[in-house]
Amino acid sequence: MNLMYIYMRMKKDMQRIESEIERSIQTDLRLLQQSSLHLAKAGGKRIRPIFVLLAGEFGEYDLDRLKHIAVPLELIHMATLVHDDVIDDADKRRGQLTVRSKWDNKVAMYTGDYIFSRALIDVTNLENPRIHQILSHAIVQMCLGEMEQIRLFFELNQSLKDYLLRIKRKTALLLAISCQLGAIAVNAREEYVRALYDFGYHAGMAFQITDDLLDIEGTEAQIGKPPGSDVRQGNITLPYLLAMQEPESGPYITEQLELFRDTGEPALVESLVKQIRAHDAVQATRAIAHRYIENAKQALDRLPDCKAKSDLRKIATFIEERTY
Ligand code: IPE
Ligand code: IPE
Ligand code: MG
Ligand code: MG
Repeated sequence: MNLMYIYMRMKKDMQRIESEIERSIQTDLRLLQQSSLHLAKAGGKRIRPIFVLLAGEFGEYDLDRLKHIAVPLELIHMATLVHDDVIDDADKRRGQLTVRSKWDNKVAMYTGDYIFSRALIDVTNLENPRIHQILSHAIVQMCLGEMEQIRLFFELNQSLKDYLLRIKRKTALLLAISCQLGAIAVNAREEYVRALYDFGYHAGMAFQITDDLLDIEGTEAQIGKPPGSDVRQGNITLPYLLAMQEPESGPYITEQLELFRDTGEPALVESLVKQIRAHDAVQATRAIAHRYIENAKQALDRLPDCKAKSDLRKIATFIEERTY
């Protein structure tokens, strides 16, 4: 499954979103202009705006309204990535240097804040207070998720529940509200709004789980950054958590993780990634992602049959199988 087919149908509207993204971060300050455009120009899947537009097909589709959700949500996503790369000391993103690496952390902090504020200005074009409430609550949750991630760096005793709550906050909610707000912006029926939220939430959980798998199984060409970044940063993701629970190999993997936490020896990252790649925990992680995708697809059953519904189903399959 390739996202290209879906993008083809929506090409015209997505091009509009693309130019609006660039327009909304436009500034005369040369440094800020360059740093904020840098990530936008590097590409990305644009999955949040796609969700917004597809959800918009379940009401009175109106691109002039939908763009004020689609553009801000992609901008908020980009702002969090610019900040996330500071937290993670990451050098590569979308196959390019990160803002922090091309400039520095200070530039990256304000670039993220700037993109973020531009997003908030753009949503004010929509007057419905419910939209603003949903958006600000989701942003609060994202902050909690990122803070929890920092608190739990190298915490090897964290539970699956800790992990699931963290990825709900940092990733799934933004995808859920992409669908929800797209539907609200076009006055879709309340039952459709709820079904779309449920779809986005479950697809979003799977999206972060497959992101965490790609960090172990992907190549740098596929994921646009060196694999193993999660464990290098101390972010203990689902495959590691499941591998540590395994009675036979679990204690050794835990020991290796502790050793890396205490020594920072780079060779340990490579060896850990290699062990997890060959471990049953990868299949177990896939099975959990699959369950979320099944639930996402079940949420779609509550929606009327149409092109957007079959596109969302295809995107769900893409998320499960994705290699980028
Ligand atoms: C990366 O998101 C961060 C996560 C929430 C997993 P994406 O995988 O959507 O990143 P881009 O926008 O395509 O680069
Ligand atoms: C997504 O998680 C982070 C945000 C929601 C900002 P990751 O930390 O896994 O994202 P990548 O892997 O760096 O893209
Ligand atoms: Mg990261
Ligand atoms: Mg990741």
